[in-house]
Amino acid sequence: MSLLTVTTVAELREYVQHAKFKGLSVGFVPTMGNLHAGHMSLVKHANKQCDIVIASIFVNPLQFNDQSDLTNYPRTLVQDQQLLESNGCDLLFAPTVDEMYPNGQQSQSIVSVPDVSLGLCGGARPGHFDGVATVVTKLFNMVQADKAFFGEKDFQQLAVIRKMVADLCLPIDVVGITTERNSEGLALSSRNGYLSANELTLAPAIFKTLQEVATSIQQGNDFATTLDETQQRLNNQGFKVDYLALCRESDLKPATTEDEKLVVLIAAFLGSARLIDNLPFSLNRTTD
Ligand code: PAJ
Repeated sequence: MSLLTVTTVAELREYVQHAKFKGLSVGFVPTMGNLHAGHMSLVKHANKQCDIVIASIFVNPLQFNDQSDLTNYPRTLVQDQQLLESNGCDLLFAPTVDEMYPNGQQSQSIVSVPDVSLGLCGGARPGHFDGVATVVTKLFNMVQADKAFFGEKDFQQLAVIRKMVADLCLPIDVVGITTERNSEGLALSSRNGYLSANELTLAPAIFKTLQEVATSIQQGNDFATTLDETQQRLNNQGFKVDYLALCRESDLKPATTEDEKLVVLIAAFLGSARLIDNLPFSLNRTTD
């Protein structure tokens, strides 16, 4: 079946109503476009779990705190449509800013998810997760899907969405999908397009470093010392580390030695690109 693209909420609602009337389940993959194999992994999982797959492409101004970042965000609609079609997406919702924010962004009601939105990317990008939570709530209400698919690549975003859905009793299942990487371990990202050839050879060090941190912590090394030394090493390699943090997986609070399920998260600049990645892991304690 070929991909249908709609730009208005009215067309989207009509399509979904027909699908639901036929008893079909609906999977939803929200994106900002410039799609790659990471996004397609979400589409493929949605296809396996749901009868109909709807993707959205909307570069959401509310979640950008840097105007030039918003302006320069890559917009590649035709290429994105081809990828979506070849991966079995049924409908693309690609609204304009006016369609999403008909009363303007200033007077938009805001969804704010406490605690988990703070720190990490929320610390470096104030208001970012309010923008994400607000647009995702609107998209959920517009699409009315049964399941929504998000990447673990944006680990904090996934935690924010899960808490929001639980706190607000939103009738949707949130499915987290493991990070898609290139053969060298670099997490696929639209922002990798900002890297020079030389930076692209350096970038896989991020994931290797996360693996080293996880191993070091599992071997019983001190959290703070491991993080400090690792951050210094990355900075010496040409990265500018924004944060490197060890957190409890469930709520992203700072990890303690009592926690079993941990995640190490990083944001680092390489040239002008701000790259993020993470690695969940367990502290397997042996009992005597
Ligand atoms: P975007 O950055 O386009 O990402 C869309 C979805 O693709 C997110 O759930 C993200 O985690 C997932 N994704 C990106 N790279 C991935 C990879 N390498 N492997 C697996 N999944 C990956 O995240 C957003 O857009 C926006 O904040 C959005 C949720 C659409 C709200 O505006």
